[in-house]
Amino acid sequence: MKYSRFGDKFTRHSGISQLMDDFAHTLTGDQPVKMLGGGNPGLIPEAVERYRDAMADIVNDSAAFAQAFSNYDTPQGRFSFIDALVDLLNEEFNWGVTRRNIMLTNGSQNAFFFLFNLLAGPSSDGGLRKILLPLTPEYVGYADLAVDDDFFESEKPIIDVLDDRTFKYRVDFNALPDDPQIAAICVSRPTNPTGNVLSDEEVAHLDDIARARGIPLIVDNAYGAPFPNIINSAVKPTWNDNTVMCMSLSKLGLPALRTGIVIANETIIDAMSSLNAVVNLSPGGLGASLMTQMVRDRSILTLSEHVIQPFYARKAAHAQACFNEVMDGIEAYCHVPEGAIFLWFWFPGLPVPVGELYERLKKRGVLVVPGHYFFPGIDDPDWPHPRECIRVSYAPDDRDVEAGIRIIGEEVHRAWQEG
Ligand SMILES: Cc1ncc(COP(=O)(O)O)c(C=O)c1O
Repeated sequence: MKYSRFGDKFTRHSGISQLMDDFAHTLTGDQPVKMLGGGNPGLIPEAVERYRDAMADIVNDSAAFAQAFSNYDTPQGRFSFIDALVDLLNEEFNWGVTRRNIMLTNGSQNAFFFLFNLLAGPSSDGGLRKILLPLTPEYVGYADLAVDDDFFESEKPIIDVLDDRTFKYRVDFNALPDDPQIAAICVSRPTNPTGNVLSDEEVAHLDDIARARGIPLIVDNAYGAPFPNIINSAVKPTWNDNTVMCMSLSKLGLPALRTGIVIANETIIDAMSSLNAVVNLSPGGLGASLMTQMVRDRSILTLSEHVIQPFYARKAAHAQACFNEVMDGIEAYCHVPEGAIFLWFWFPGLPVPVGELYERLKKRGVLVVPGHYFFPGIDDPDWPHPRECIRVSYAPDDRDVEAGIRIIGEEVHRAWQEG
């Protein structure tokens, strides 16, 4: 089939889509698989029950059912949900937003596709406008979103080794490029894949830089506060009219609802709503219908704080304890799990390429994601770090996580024994 440039670009098998195919094939084989590679949230019975109750309330009320299912929403999204969010964000966090500052998308992935291509790419003066990722490793889902030429400019992190088992990445502010073609700065906070959470000071510093350059700061809050609040450090949910805050219902345990929430100044909301109108007519409204009452009565916040956050904090501690145990005798570090649903392991000087480690683990029924996928915009063959790391999800069942990490330990020991 002959495709357009757009068609060629989006049907090209990127590294990560090949990896996803690989996951799908492995999962349909005979061998039991410890799926520590995906981004699925964990199954939290108390949360699932809460959503079932909310769905039952809709299904058992014919007017509510008709309202939920029978109308296209506006291109901006369902206003009853947007208005409930406005009240929550103003009353609880004093954000000073109005209905004109919030729009919905079909998942936040969809929001990033719109946002990045709205702001970056070839410009009418012949330049290439770029998205700056000030801290890599960064979310792999950004990597292939450019409709045209790839547009990421990225920085390597400062690496702080904290003790003989943990380390932490920090933004290298001195290295950030001062390139006039940079159209926006983007960070995930908490970061997928590392579990890093930028401090309030780091975010304020990025905000200052963005304002000084007259460009927006995009904060990917898919795991952050106030919901789903998969975050172990105390951070303040802040927003201002230069921040584009992207949120999602997915990591509350509702990824199938494909509901993303964008909070930004009116100009960006209007532009993003136009994109919704052209591409989707309107965003799907089921997530909005399901969660409106939980936003109104604030139970979305209590569920996040008292159920979802402790669920992941306990699982992270368990997975990290397993890691510490199985890596005995080997130089191996885990990024401090400050949030999100992954552990990020670093094996300095790993004697086999990380792709080979991935294959060996796959043969033993353990799926992880090799680290080098998480460095969009970094292409330095002399920097071994991306090839010394793996991402491991701790969202699955504890027994699978523990068994998977034990096998990772065995394979890393074996790699060192073989030299
Ligand atoms: C950091 C981050 N941002 C955005 C997304 C996209 O999520 P969704 O489209 O389900 O809202 C994900 C999904 O895993 C993610 O990890």
